[in-house]
Amino acid sequence: MNSQPGWPRLIGHRGAAKWAPENTLASFFCAADLGAEWVELDIRLCKGGIPVVFHDAELERTTNGLGRLALHRLDELKSLDAGTWFSPRFRDEPIPTLEEALSTIARLGMGVNIELKPDQGEAVEMVQAALAVAKKVWPETAPPPLISSFSHEVLAQAKDLCPWPMGYLAERFDQGLLDRAGSVRAASLNLSANYLRPPHIAAIHQAGLALLVYTVNEPTEARRLWAMGVDGIFTDDPKLLSEG
Ligand code: G3P
Ligand code: MG
Repeated sequence: MNSQPGWPRLIGHRGAAKWAPENTLASFFCAADLGAEWVELDIRLCKGGIPVVFHDAELERTTNGLGRLALHRLDELKSLDAGTWFSPRFRDEPIPTLEEALSTIARLGMGVNIELKPDQGEAVEMVQAALAVAKKVWPETAPPPLISSFSHEVLAQAKDLCPWPMGYLAERFDQGLLDRAGSVRAASLNLSANYLRPPHIAAIHQAGLALLVYTVNEPTEARRLWAMGVDGIFTDDPKLLSEG
């Protein structure tokens, strides 16, 4: 079956993670400069329940902070440097809130995939907080955001609250995945490129779902996946094709 229209062919992963510190405003500006039409970002809740744009549960890899992000208030997170680990050129680049990120991305004219990464027991609070922010700041005239998660609980919670399409994230395809995605009314499966096989793509499209795959950083691999019928790819390098 052919790939479906209306899905972004290329989504800047964590902004433009190859060129700028992931999940920062600098990364989203960079993605826009490189011509990205869509970006993906990850969110977590800080102490106090405000959604911030951040990938890991712990602060160490991408900031000068220590310990679990969820144990820090927003003012503490805002004092951290989330740029120097990547390059001294990005010194003092802050962790953005979801609100700051969405406002910036909308101003830059890009679409967005918001990936929800809840801690244990946080699904309900996270869905409510994320949707409240997105409904407040995301323009009605912009392409609808894609809301995604590896957490079934998050997607089940969002099913009746989310006015936008949802992506069911998993590493590998399995037959049960189609039922699980259907049960939360997901519009796409978002899978790792590493384990994908042609029969999976056919089954996914047969079930009426789009297929987005992560994380593809080689132009030849991107072209191979598109030729196989994959609808869109996540890449750290929105310049991927101009280099291919
Ligand atoms: O949403 C695609 C991809 O971002 C999922 O994995 O760990 O990079 O958030 P991760
Ligand atoms: Mg992600």
